[in-house]
Amino acid sequence: MRTRPLKVALLGCGVVGSEVARIMTTHADDLTQRIGAPVELAGVAVRRPSKVREGIDPELVTTDATALLKRGDIDIAIEVIGGIEPARTLITTAFEHGISVVSANKALLAQDGAALHAAAEQHGLDLYYEAAVAGAIPLVRPMRESLAGDKINRVMGIVNGTTNFILDKMDSTGAGYQEALDEATALGYAEADPTADVEGYDAAAKAAILAGIAFHTRVRLDDVYREGMTEVSAADFASAKRMGCTIKLLAILERAADGESVTARVHPAMIPLTHPLASVREAYNAVFVEAEAAGQLMFYGPGAGGAPTASAVLGDLVAVARNKLAEATGPGESAYTQLPVSPMGDVVTRYHISLDVADKPGVLAQVATTFAEHGVSIDTVRQQGKDGEASLVVVTHRAPDAALSGTVEALRKLDTVRGVASIMRVEGE
Ligand code: HSE
Repeated sequence: MRTRPLKVALLGCGVVGSEVARIMTTHADDLTQRIGAPVELAGVAVRRPSKVREGIDPELVTTDATALLKRGDIDIAIEVIGGIEPARTLITTAFEHGISVVSANKALLAQDGAALHAAAEQHGLDLYYEAAVAGAIPLVRPMRESLAGDKINRVMGIVNGTTNFILDKMDSTGAGYQEALDEATALGYAEADPTADVEGYDAAAKAAILAGIAFHTRVRLDDVYREGMTEVSAADFASAKRMGCTIKLLAILERAADGESVTARVHPAMIPLTHPLASVREAYNAVFVEAEAAGQLMFYGPGAGGAPTASAVLGDLVAVARNKLAEATGPGESAYTQLPVSPMGDVVTRYHISLDVADKPGVLAQVATTFAEHGVSIDTVRQQGKDGEASLVVVTHRAPDAALSGTVEALRKLDTVRGVASIMRVEGE
């Protein structure tokens, strides 16, 4: 056992960082045994030095993260600042100074993962980021390492806890979107500005990272099709229930049937109550992975929060520390397949469409003809009429998204269609 400690710089000491520091201190002996050398918290870079941080030696606290990285004795940096800058510059500085990095930064990894991986590789260092996707759930390492001998064809996941909490409340109480969001805010699940969560940006960043790992190709944030869940209504949940479904905000990553391209998307969708993802309640995350040899795997657990996210960070710290002692590195970026990312129009899916129509002879035939003209086959139709008006719910068979959205556009132009009340994709069957 080596007695000289590996020195760790903690960049950021908020909800996650303070838990990382706490576990490093309270579990120091176990970490030493597992790594084969002690790990010492050698510096903590913060924005507000005057804030009281229980359990952290004030002598370690600095506002100068760059100087901490440049001082010459740091082995590993843990970046839990979040956002693009200064995190990107600090990680780059760490690599330039021979420091391996553990990061929890999904936005940065999704945007600049390729460049950061290249910098790590150039300097012979590690970049680990288990905590960037789905908090405590071991997912990045199982996909990068445990499944490295298999072929992943599909990943479908709930990777945002805030939106899952909101949708779960809507499902279980019949509440509307705003009411459920207000509850999520009051309970501290949703931030004061919930845009990143409810508009799907957070999930899209995680989707880009997971797609790159799953398909060994580069998937940029801009390649991920994204729709938020603010338009999901209580009426949509009522329709979903009638079909034996619920509604989830899903990240779906697929390899095309011919294996020549991939797709990546985030949007709300109906899924059958029998699908394992349907039973993911409250703010939990879960990711369903389909691999050629392994079959179907489900990863489930807390996707956010200080201690759960710190658990993932600590796991990476142990792995990176072991690599340092072995004078080796773990897996870097694997993007050798260079598969193109197809647009949303090429995705094959099903639609649930709710229309307000005139209730008179020929309307149903006209609507059915519009579907046929776009090559979209109808699975079921349900009509409920009242006072010359009717609501028509059409569920399609699988068709390219471009054909389905073309159908909806044409339906909107029909005189007999008063309005398209909702459109929702149906997945997981
Ligand atoms: N805001 C995210 C969520 C957690 O609600 O899941 C951090 O990615």
